[in-house]
Amino acid sequence: MDEGVAFFESRIRPIFLDNCLECHGPDKQKGGLRLDFKEGWEIGGDNGSALVPGSPEKSRLVHAIHYEDADFQMPPKTKLSADAIAALEDWISMGAPDPHSGEIAHKKQEGLSIEEGCNFWSFRPIELPELSGQAQDPTDAIDQFIAAKHDANGLQFAPEASRLDLVRRTYFTLIGLPPTPGQIQAYLDDKRPDAFERLVDTLLDSPQYGERWGRHWLDVARFAESSGGGRTLLFKDA
Ligand code: HEC
Repeated sequence: MDEGVAFFESRIRPIFLDNCLECHGPDKQKGGLRLDFKEGWEIGGDNGSALVPGSPEKSRLVHAIHYEDADFQMPPKTKLSADAIAALEDWISMGAPDPHSGEIAHKKQEGLSIEEGCNFWSFRPIELPELSGQAQDPTDAIDQFIAAKHDANGLQFAPEASRLDLVRRTYFTLIGLPPTPGQIQAYLDDKRPDAFERLVDTLLDSPQYGERWGRHWLDVARFAESSGGGRTLLFKDA
């Protein structure tokens, strides 16, 4: 057996097997990385190639096993023995011989292909659709779309909302809170033709509007200052 391959089989594969493959093997690919065959570490994970054959000092894997960066330590729970770290560095210095090759490149494609991307709606030329529905207000193009769907489904528009309904709905929609009796009265008393537009503008300008949508955003971003889950990685710029 080739010397490099012998070294890999006797010293390196056991280290990967005992310490890494649980998270970087066939079942799980944490950080997008697989270490159980050559193309796995060549292609690397989310941040590219895991190691540079011949250059341990340029290899992300080596930085990780040395626990140099408190936010990027591999394996996460316990540092490898000095002996294992030295073996991995020797192996990379040798050019990282790994006979487990020829596996199908695993890098999964995420998102759309180039062709699908070119067809994505926002990259297509603007087309003016036909307006076919019979809207209550024929000047309102959006209503005409709704009307067309209504016609197709045998539905009718609901009667126009009263001003009282409208002010309550507007508060709930924009700031998530009901109007106070005083706010309702102020709106009902406002007889200017653009009273509704003014109400909407006032609510859009209010801090509560930002708070309401900020909350949705935080839900999506799963706001936290650390990753939690037993392995607390701090989000530095959270
Ligand atoms: C308990 C699970 C776990 C084990 C065991 C583990 N890792 Fe990781 N590894 C992760 C996670 C999670 C990430 C994603 C980055 C992060 O959260 O720090 C990662 C990312 C990496 C990356 C960076 C991938 C990239 O491109 O971003 C390398 C390199 C790496 N691990 C090497 C190793 C090595 C070498 C071992 C064994 C000595 C090992 N890991 C063991 C969970 C693990």
